[in-house]
Amino acid sequence: MKHTPILAFLFIIFTNTYAWKYFHNGRVKGGNLGSPNKNNPIKEPQNFTRWFTQNLDHFDVGNATTWQQRYYVNEDFSQKDNRSVAFLMIGGEGEATDVWMTAGQWVEYAKQFKAIIFQVEHRFYGKSRPTPDLSVENLKFLTSEQALADLAIFISAMNEEYNLATDVKWIAFGGSYPGSLAAWLRLKYPHLVHGSVSTSGPLLAVPDFQDYYQVVADDLRVVSEECYTAVKAAFAQVDVLLQGKDGQKTLNTLFQLCDPIEDNVENENDISNFYSSLAENFAGIAQYNKDNRLSTKGTLLENITLDTVCSIITNISTEKEINRLADFNSLMLVATHEECLDYKYSKMISEMKNESWEATASEGGRQWFFQTCNEFGFYQTSDRKPQIFSDKFPLQFEIQQCTDIFGDKFNGNYLDYATKRTNTLYGALEIEVSNVVFVHGSVDPWHALGITISDNKNAPAIFIKGTAHCANMYPPSDTDLPQLESARVEIGKLIQSWLDT
Ligand SMILES: *[C@@H]1O[C@H](CO)[C@@H](O)[C@H](O)[C@H]1NC(C)=O
Ligand SMILES: *[C@@H]1O[C@H](CO)[C@@H](O)[C@H](O)[C@H]1NC(C)=O
Ligand SMILES: *[C@@H]1O[C@H](CO)[C@@H](O)[C@H](O)[C@H]1NC(C)=O
Ligand SMILES: *[C@@H]1O[C@H](CO)[C@@H](O)[C@H](O)[C@H]1NC(C)=O
Ligand SMILES: *[C@@H]1O[C@H](CO)[C@@H](O)[C@H](O)[C@H]1NC(C)=O
Ligand SMILES: *[C@@H]1O[C@H](CO)[C@@H](O)[C@H](O)[C@H]1NC(C)=O
Repeated sequence: MKHTPILAFLFIIFTNTYAWKYFHNGRVKGGNLGSPNKNNPIKEPQNFTRWFTQNLDHFDVGNATTWQQRYYVNEDFSQKDNRSVAFLMIGGEGEATDVWMTAGQWVEYAKQFKAIIFQVEHRFYGKSRPTPDLSVENLKFLTSEQALADLAIFISAMNEEYNLATDVKWIAFGGSYPGSLAAWLRLKYPHLVHGSVSTSGPLLAVPDFQDYYQVVADDLRVVSEECYTAVKAAFAQVDVLLQGKDGQKTLNTLFQLCDPIEDNVENENDISNFYSSLAENFAGIAQYNKDNRLSTKGTLLENITLDTVCSIITNISTEKEINRLADFNSLMLVATHEECLDYKYSKMISEMKNESWEATASEGGRQWFFQTCNEFGFYQTSDRKPQIFSDKFPLQFEIQQCTDIFGDKFNGNYLDYATKRTNTLYGALEIEVSNVVFVHGSVDPWHALGITISDNKNAPAIFIKGTAHCANMYPPSDTDLPQLESARVEIGKLIQSWLDT
């Protein structure tokens, strides 16, 4: 199931599955860092996993219902008799992985500051399952406010359990949605969290995130104007082919559609889904362009960059732009291990309606989509002009999915109210915090909803030209841009300055 309605899926830098939606079948199990080889003695892998008894409802004191929340801890970088610095990696909208307990830039900071490091899996994702299933009734306990309260209770319990210094300073880290949580945690619980590195976090909740595809289009233009023009032309050619029976048959073959499109042209949702699938291919590449993430190491996806895409899209050996678009689509199907392009709306909805922890949608798709309908919006629509990836997946198409999956209550009015509420609770782009750094990459479309400029020296912004989603969190690589390297150094200096005060 490639095309789920997770247009808004942010991104799961914490899972090996990465963007469940795109790479659903292309998963790397168990991580691939530090795997022993013949030259290195085999070291028994450490078990970092622990469980924490957490409250179900932090806002109903009388309710004693609890559940087991998964977390990881690594004490190796700290001194047992002097634990004055603790790091918290905030889990997000997917299963957590212990790969991060020994890798990533935060581990370098942990060595530098002798920090004990914790990672907490977000409620309702991975193995952190507060309720027996994912019914709408139970999902009312899945909110960012509950998740932040989980972290607050967790921190205060760990201070005792691990014998942390009485004046221990906690620094929170998070990328993507957890980047937002990192900032909000410092906002709501400043007495518990001393500072936060908030990476690629969208802080403004919006129903219609139409700027997303604007940034993707800009990314293509940075590669070449020809690339941008050719993509636009290709989508226009798709429009034309959809008009007649012969054209429709051509589309079936060109784009390897699972179901013949001529049977479904009257179904507006199917057509929207088809177009948004084609657009998402570009989004997925742009968002993660050359980011050196752990989850796609050694896979074909690692090698597909904006440059690759544009070299296909502008390859004049293939006469028509639409054929080049089809070549790119075929490559993405191979890379994501899909046999055909599945655009059937009804199939997607029925999979997303499944409330079982055993269902594929429970890997995060259903839960995160609920959070978008209930708190954030973030829908990556085709509403922005000039339209390059068609105009066929408007906001209404996304709202329709909220309603179809979670019920009539989740309509457009609800979404307007819900996103306004979120912005009021956290302050959106007007958030007032200290000891927080906001980090974004210019290639990453999510920067459009975050803080990229700040004149508050207590809450600075670092905007890295040319990098993608969460790039500063991954382990350094030889090909890193100098501005990425200096961003990592700057973040380290900020942490130092917070710890000094
Ligand atoms: C790791 O430790 C946790 C908590 O003690 C335990 O539940 C789990 O079974 C252990 N995992 C392995 C693979 O030993
Ligand atoms: C606590 O909340 C759960 C879930 O809503 C509910 O089933 C249970 O009855 C509540 N318990 C109390 C004591 O209110
Ligand atoms: C404990 O560690 C902190 C930070 O590493 C250091 O500043 C402090 O001097 C240490 N205290 C003792 C008693 O070693
Ligand atoms: C990715 O590209 C590198 C360098 O060109 C190559 O060595 C590697 O085999 C490629 N990986 C895959 C999975 O295609
Ligand atoms: C362009 O397309 C031709 C014909 O399909 C192919 O042989 C060539 O490798 C392509 N070039 C690039 C840069 O993809
Ligand atoms: C939900 O998914 C599970 C696991 O794949 C499956 O066994 C079950 O039949 C599905 N339920 C519905 C209502 O489709």
